[in-house]
Amino acid sequence: MNIIISPSILASDFSQLGVEAQRMEKAGADWLHIDVMDGHFVPNITLGAPIVKALRPRTSMFFDVHLMISEPLKYVEDFAKAGADIITFHVECDSDIDETIDKIHELGCKAGLSVKPGTPASAVLPYLKKIEMVLVMTVEPGFGGQSFMADMCRKLVELKAACKAENLAVYLQVDGGISEKTVAVAASAGANCFVAGSAVFGSPDPREAITVIRTIAEDSFAN
Ligand code: DX5
Ligand code: ZN
Repeated sequence: MNIIISPSILASDFSQLGVEAQRMEKAGADWLHIDVMDGHFVPNITLGAPIVKALRPRTSMFFDVHLMISEPLKYVEDFAKAGADIITFHVECDSDIDETIDKIHELGCKAGLSVKPGTPASAVLPYLKKIEMVLVMTVEPGFGGQSFMADMCRKLVELKAACKAENLAVYLQVDGGISEKTVAVAASAGANCFVAGSAVFGSPDPREAITVIRTIAEDSFAN
């Protein structure tokens, strides 16, 4: 599987989201990570499906929507119709997990399942065969710009082994505090999809930041 770099729009200038998305596309980003928070599942509110819909005609980038919301089942249809390509939700949410995965697939999107730092990787193992991505949070969800929690990488090792044992091609995504300083640890543990907010949007040269993160990830990733 190729290494994927997915800049998080949470670190962008919200007054010009369309321009910011295009800036990432031109800088060589593979996906655009869109953080949705409801002020309930996490103590912060960001953006909703109307914003995703408004962004959709501005870029052909793959939309990586990360739902940090209590009831994803209620909203996945809105995000799919708005133009999401992959919809990731949390295993700690209040919706039925199987039903939510099935609905995402019925809507024509890929499905991802995420674990917060306090949740073991084993929580997603029962669903591994029916999802396209596992997102291991490397910070407590809710805010950008936090420090990378290196001890989360043991979950990647466990998930990579489980995928290998079942011969599954599932993206292993990490999100939170990813930069040129932390990416090697995550990639060597098995991550192949990297969300980076501040490290890319905050860089004076996002193209260079993406290239450096990608190169380090490729060099550290062991098949
Ligand atoms: C945190 C979000 C992240 C965040 C990452 O809840 O899910 O996607 O934007 O930001 P950085 O890369 O700045 O830690
Ligand atoms: Zn995120």
